[in-house]
Amino acid sequence: MKKFYKDLKLGIVGGGQLGRMLIQAGIDMNVHIEVLDPNPEAPAKAYAHGFTQGSLTDFDAVYEFGKNMDVITIEIENVNTEALSKLASEGKVINPDPGIIRLIQDKREQKQFFEEMGLPTSPFRLVDNKADVLNMKDFLPAVNKLGKAGYDGRGVQVIKEEADLEKAFDAPGILEKFIPFEKELAVLVARNAQGDTAVYPVVEMSFHPEHNLVEYLFAPASISMNISRDAQEMARSIVEKLSYVGIMAVEMFLTKDGDLLINEMAPRPHNSGHHTIKACFTSQYEQHLRAILALPLGSTLQSSPAALVNLLGEDKHKGPAYFNGIEEIMQIPGAHPHIYGKAETKPFRKMGHVILLDQELESLQKKARQVKNLLKVVAEEKMAT
Ligand SMILES: Nc1ncnc2c1ncn2[C@@H]1O[C@H](COP(=O)(O)OP(=O)(O)O)[C@@H](O)[C@H]1O
Ligand SMILES: [Mg+2]
Repeated sequence: MKKFYKDLKLGIVGGGQLGRMLIQAGIDMNVHIEVLDPNPEAPAKAYAHGFTQGSLTDFDAVYEFGKNMDVITIEIENVNTEALSKLASEGKVINPDPGIIRLIQDKREQKQFFEEMGLPTSPFRLVDNKADVLNMKDFLPAVNKLGKAGYDGRGVQVIKEEADLEKAFDAPGILEKFIPFEKELAVLVARNAQGDTAVYPVVEMSFHPEHNLVEYLFAPASISMNISRDAQEMARSIVEKLSYVGIMAVEMFLTKDGDLLINEMAPRPHNSGHHTIKACFTSQYEQHLRAILALPLGSTLQSSPAALVNLLGEDKHKGPAYFNGIEEIMQIPGAHPHIYGKAETKPFRKMGHVILLDQELESLQKKARQVKNLLKVVAEEKMAT
């Protein structure tokens, strides 16, 4: 990249809420950002310098979009990496590298990468179809995951005992040992093209019991200094081994024995890093921009403990979205709602989040429960049950 970053056109493949928040950070730095998304109502559209409607997985759509950009990044991993590779071969700067996106797109490849790199991860077996899973009764309790195109828990099926085997996916994927973890952690780490790295304080996630979606998140995690440092170093070693450029989220399990196991990685800003917008010196979005534009990385210091509550569409509600209780939660000191601008709510769709700041963990927990109870994303009309 020869030009000053301000003279570059940055293209984001994907125009969802992550793209929208990336633009929000881009405004401060005065970056020209354009977006590709199939949805004419994409959350990022209204704030981008340019919008192209097109499929993220279609070669031509991604290639034609990228041809007019100088630097290209993603906000979702399910994109056409062949088009990105061709753009890279023609001199465009693609961050993160299309080969790394391809690796992360497939949970089979990811698990093998962790294993080859000697990084701790849960034991697993590769499976090609349901019949393979049915033959692995000896491996239960386990978790069956789709290799490709699963997201937000939709490609994950817990198979605790033989009776659950029917739920197995009939597609290539993995069967991994069920880990009765103590906590689920995430670490955000950034690396720029110069090879500098910056790691954020570890966060602790708590998931919806059925839908595998993050409900609450607390940052920093309540874990020992040693575990925290090990988790950070593990995340850093991944971006270094991959020569990765951009922000990456690394999800981990902390076992009851105090061991860390890497679950998966995400090559983009992540749900577990929204709090950084308010609670850290440099948000994950600004950090991603700095990294992909070959700028110095910013400080990852956290200035206040924070919590995050995901605003998921209420079950059985589908239609125009209403945020019931938003005035009440805005009375809570340190509560900052972020609404993604999706016109329609659907059961468990990510519609927004609330960041909470407080010096005390206990009152953060209390505030998080308050938000959860008070704020409901509902549709004008309920779905028939
Ligand atoms: N091996 C496992 N043992 C126990 N729980 C798991 C395991 N793998 C995944 N999970 C649970 O399912 C969630 C979703 O799985 P994950 O692999 O992160 O898929 P996704 O791509 O949907 O985020 C995890 O965050 C965790 O709560
Ligand atoms: Mg995950």
